[in-house]
Amino acid sequence: MKERDLFGGRTTAIMALAGSAIGLGNIWRFPYLVGQNGGAVFILLYIIFSLLLSLPIFLAESAIGRNGGVNCRSAIAAWVPGRAGRWLGMLSIITPLWIVSYYSVVGGWSLEYLIQSCKLQFTQSSPELMSGQFEALLSQTYKPILCHIVFLMATVVIVAFGVKSGIEKFSKYSIPVLFILIVVIAIYAVTLPGAGEGVSYLVKPDFSKVTPHTFIDALGQSFYSLSLGMGIVITYSSYINKSENLMVTSLGTSISDLLFAYLAGFAIMPAVFAAGIEPSSGPGLIFDTLPYIFSQMGLHMPVFSAIAAILFFLTVFIAALTSSISLIEVGVAYLTEEKGMKRGWACVLLFACCGVFGALCSLSFGPLAGMQLFGMNLFELADTIASNGLLVIGGLISVIIAGWVIPRKVLFKELTNAGAKRINIKFFPIVAVLIRYVAPIGILVLLITSVI
Ligand code: PFF
Repeated sequence: MKERDLFGGRTTAIMALAGSAIGLGNIWRFPYLVGQNGGAVFILLYIIFSLLLSLPIFLAESAIGRNGGVNCRSAIAAWVPGRAGRWLGMLSIITPLWIVSYYSVVGGWSLEYLIQSCKLQFTQSSPELMSGQFEALLSQTYKPILCHIVFLMATVVIVAFGVKSGIEKFSKYSIPVLFILIVVIAIYAVTLPGAGEGVSYLVKPDFSKVTPHTFIDALGQSFYSLSLGMGIVITYSSYINKSENLMVTSLGTSISDLLFAYLAGFAIMPAVFAAGIEPSSGPGLIFDTLPYIFSQMGLHMPVFSAIAAILFFLTVFIAALTSSISLIEVGVAYLTEEKGMKRGWACVLLFACCGVFGALCSLSFGPLAGMQLFGMNLFELADTIASNGLLVIGGLISVIIAGWVIPRKVLFKELTNAGAKRINIKFFPIVAVLIRYVAPIGILVLLITSVI
């Protein structure tokens, strides 16, 4: 077998994993969930769940991946004998490909909004009109598909360059750029007149806002944001050198992801409050509320508002791209290693399949809007199946394998570098309990509530 590429070192491994974690989940999903769940209290729960539940699952997947040193399907099948193992492994290949198909449709919207901000096209005088402009884009046939295809093409081109020259190189430059961009936008947002209320919304928890929903949303978001349960962490960790400390790479990724989400909150919420808009406006927050805010700022400060809009949608675009790369890589690793395909051809094949499925999802806001199941169009259905079902099942498979199937000594070897890392040895018993008992219970709760 051809020798596999590995990430160059600890920092680049963290950057690649953080690239996968930091995505639309942080900039699009997190702020609107914060808005719908009462602000700082949601963030507090999100941080607790991330460190207590999602981080151990991340460690479990990382250990499975590095121990296997192969693509995700084989890494899972190595521990679960027979047909079941092959099917479970296959599920972890299908899930990210399923997701990237519609994820790149949203990536395409961010590209279109980036172009619109460069052309200073955010000029509507109310959030409703701005929302109309967004819906008008979605209901078109060709433009959203074209944007989706361009976005997907950019993704596969980077992946085609390989683990070192494509994924690692791109993450190495894009992650620092993303942090710089989001800090600049956040500084701008908090200095807007009237932004103070938005800032206190993000830092002062109001415990009266807590409902059972707040817990479920916070748990689900921590899971989604770390890209768990879909083969990504297993695949990327198989590219981590045996001498690296997995507790450090995992913690580094988790902290980068949390920090970025919080900064995204500061980039968005103060502007929302400054414009006197309800923070709970939901999923349309970044595609209709924010452009409206940019258009309003444009009345007084046209240059600043244009720059803010461009920087913001550039951030969304790059963040979505680093995540979609990781989603595609899971399938590419499988096709090259198991089916003997050349990387370039594997990319072409996945581009074609995800391109077609994504185009159908895109059309479900326009000509195919009438095709509904359970009151959802194809896009919404695809997202619901993935977020509430496939991801959670994938996560459950990982923790069951890591906590109950893999011998404890293998887990110990991976998470302590065969006993060489003293501090890891101290933490190992806690991590093992979290992986074996706490994480499966948390995932089951999430699964049952999503089904209900
Ligand atoms: N973690 C990335 C994000 O938050 O956008 C990637 C991702 C996770 C995409 C889960 C899709 C998904 F369902």
